[in-house]
Parts: sequence; C-alpha cells; structure tokens
Amino acid sequence: MTDKNLDTAQLIYDGKNYEFPVIVGSEGERSVDITSLRGRTGLITYDPGYGNTGACKSAVTFLDGEKGILRHRGYAIDELAQHYAFVEVSFLLIFGHLPNQTEVDEFREQMKANYELQPSIIEIIKSYPDEAHPMAILSSCCMALSGLYPDKPQSDEEFKLAAARMMAQFIGIAAYTYRKKMGKEFIAPNTDYGYCTNFMHMLFGDEHKCEDELGRVIRRSLARLLIIHSDHEQNCSTSTVRMVSSAQSNMYASVSAGIAALWGPLHGGANQKVMEMLQEIKDGGGDIEKMLARAKAKEDPFRLMGFGHRVYKTYDPRAKIAKASCYEYLNQIGKREGLVDIAVQLEGAALADEYFQERNLYPNVDFYTGILYRAMGIPTEMFTVLFAIGRLPGWLSHLRELEQDPDCRIGRPRQIYTGNTARPIPQFR
Ligand code: SDX
Repeated sequence: MTDKNLDTAQLIYDGKNYEFPVIVGSEGERSVDITSLRGRTGLITYDPGYGNTGACKSAVTFLDGEKGILRHRGYAIDELAQHYAFVEVSFLLIFGHLPNQTEVDEFREQMKANYELQPSIIEIIKSYPDEAHPMAILSSCCMALSGLYPDKPQSDEEFKLAAARMMAQFIGIAAYTYRKKMGKEFIAPNTDYGYCTNFMHMLFGDEHKCEDELGRVIRRSLARLLIIHSDHEQNCSTSTVRMVSSAQSNMYASVSAGIAALWGPLHGGANQKVMEMLQEIKDGGGDIEKMLARAKAKEDPFRLMGFGHRVYKTYDPRAKIAKASCYEYLNQIGKREGLVDIAVQLEGAALADEYFQERNLYPNVDFYTGILYRAMGIPTEMFTVLFAIGRLPGWLSHLRELEQDPDCRIGRPRQIYTGNTARPIPQFR
C-alpha cells in the first residue's frame, strides 16, 4: 500500500519548490533520494558522522534501533546464534541463503586447505615487537595477503574460495599472534578439526582438549560470540571496507582498512576498554558511582565503555545473548567471575540513572563479551581481534554486494569549506 503523501519529499528553497522521490525499504524504512539535489538546487546536505545518511541499499542485515531488532538475511540473530555454526552464518551473510550440507562441507574443505600460514605471513608476525597490539599485526598480515593473492575474484566460486581462505588465515594469524605474545610455540592447524575447534586448538593446544566437556562448552560459546559479531549493516568498519572497495582496491586491502577502523575504542576496541574499566572499578574497591559520575561529566572525555550506540536506542539484542552466554558458560564450568557482578551492578545503576535514560544509552555488544572471552582464557588485548574474526564474513558480504550494486560509484562525500577565502601570496616572496 503506498500513500501518495509519503512517496515524495518537498523542499522549498530560494522561493522554488523541489520534489524528491522517497525510497521505501523492504522493512518499510523510508529515505529521500537526493542524488539530484546539488544539480537541481546547488545545495549539498550536512550530516557529520552520517547519522541521517543512507550510503547504499543493502540486503544483508536489518536493524531496528528502536525495537532492538537484528536480522541477517531475514533470520533473527538469537535464532542463528542458538541453532547454527559460525561457518553456516558466514555463508548465509555472503551468499544470501543458509547453506545445504554439500555447500557447507565444501566451504569447510576450502578453509581446511587454507589454515596453514605462508612463511612470509609468519615472518611478519615474528617481526612485530612483543608490545605491538594484535590488531596492528592482523591488519598488516591482511594487507600482506594481497601480495600473495593479488587476483580479484571473477565469479561466485572464486569469491567463495577467497572468503574461505581469508577466514581460515585470520584464525591462524590471530592464534600465532597470541602464542607469540604469550611466549609460547606456534601450534600448527589440525585439518581434522572444524573452524572454531581449530582456532581453539591453535590458541590453547592441549590445554583444552577440544573433545572434552569443557572444550565443547568453550567451542559453543566461541561460535556464539563470533556469530553475534558477524555483521551490523553500515557500521564504521564496514563502511570503511565499502569506501576502500569502491575505488576497486584489492579485497585484502579493503578488509585491512576495516580492521584499522574496528580497532578504535569507540568501535570494536570498546570490548577491551570495558574489561579495563570493570577491572579499574574492582581494583578501586567497586565504586560504581564514581565511574558513572565520570561518564556523565561534560568536562571528562571518559565514556561508559560498552554503553550507547548510534542505532540502538534500546538494549542491543547481541548484549542480551552475550550476557546469557556469560552466565551459561560460567555455570557450566563452575567458575565465579567477580567482574560479572560488577558489570551487572554497573548496568543496573546506569539504566536507573536519568542521564543514561534521557539519552537512551543501553549496553551494546561489547559490554559483556570481554568477560566471556577472559573466562575462556583469552587475554584482553586479543578481544578486538576476535571481534574482527567474527566481523570478517560481514565485511566480505558487503564487499561482494557493493561489487554487484549497479548504483555503486566511488565513495566521495562533499564538504562545507570554512577556511580562508582567496588571498595573495605575501609580497616579500
Ligand atoms: C560498536 O555502529 C555499529 O553498529 C557498531 C557496532 C558494530 O557491531 O559494528 O555495534 C559495534 O562499535 C558498539 C559501540 C562500542 N563503543 C562503545 O561502547 C564506546 C562507548 N559508547 C560511546 O562512545 C557512543 O555511545 C558511541 C560511539 C557508541 C555512539 O556515539 P554517537 O552515536 O556519536 O553518540 P553521541 O556521541 O552523539 O552521544 C549522544 C549523547 C552525548 O551526550 P550529550 O552531548 O547529548 O550531552 O550521549 C552521550 C554523549 O556524551 N553518550 C555517552 C555515551 N555514549 C553516548 N555518555 C556516556 N557514556 C557513553 N557510553
């Protein structure tokens, strides 16, 4: 059903009336198409941070920030996290349908053939100083893969191989980086294992027998964590991958740029900052009110890490899954984790606080995930790398969608110039 009044938007400017078409998405969200704005009116729009700007049409992920809805290709995130493997959800994101057994077996086989890291990649990992952040190493190694695999995939089959290869290489790079940081020997991949099992194997070796009860619990929790990070429409890092890819840059180079964007503490780097914040509260005697006061103080740049979101103005559905997974995991391994209690108290105090209520600030995906990663034995500095491993299929799905988008042009926003107007060079020159 279309409503004539909702199909167009009127702009009155300089005494003239302009009409622009309204585009309606499959979930009913509306956007005014301003592709002709500058040509017809001489105007551009001004929208720092693009909070009101649609950069593209996409069929990968739907978010409803007011209702806390997250769906990938139409499937709800909690059902995907509950019933599917990370490799299956990755295939869904990239190719648009849940894979049948043949498709997922083939995808897994392509990953198995690519777990082994090339010597040049291992040398890059070894060349970094021990104090280097793992995200720097991951971004460098990803860029280096463009040297090993320079050819652009020319078909779905070639794209599937490139995606399987990149996903497989990412867990090897992450595991080798972790082992180096811990001063431990590298562990070669075991091609008998699946994706998450192999990742655990290369991270922990025999510390967690992948087939014992604890190993199964860790593996299921890891898969769920990777799934809830797998895509989130036009977030900062995905928009970066799209921007770089719009110049027809190599796919590894585009993803390497996405890793750099995700590293930021306002984005994927927040999961590491949440843990540091919770630990600081614990070390300081559990003074939650002091941390809240800092987060609310205008003059203090500190923000409550893991809280707030550009799109969600209610509880992030992924935070609900991460919180439940936290409790489930700790109960299954019979472990107490004091930081969970601090996180729950902090969440309760913030949600009851007028400052956070007025601004619709709720826990986001990063608020509970770090506690689970740490309980699984993963060091804080590796948290954002795990976010990147989860987000990789999302980046690849948008990269592929952009390449197939007839509306796709090189990304090139405009600006409002506020600098000096024309002036002569000083006479003494
Ligand atoms: C991710 O986009 C995505 O989808 C991202 C992501 C994904 O899956 O890709 O979901 C992953 O990046 C989650 C977000 C992780 N970052 C953090 O947890 C860092 C803490 N959060 C904030 O820095 C902030 O909430 C952002 C960056 C997430 C969102 O920032 P916005 O949308 O630009 O909001 P804003 O800065 O305009 O804030 C609006 C108001 C401001 O107060 P006033 O100026 O109106 O008085 O809310 C305040 C802000 O100061 N505010 C916070 C706050 N977040 C916003 N105040 C205290 N603590 C916070 N966390």
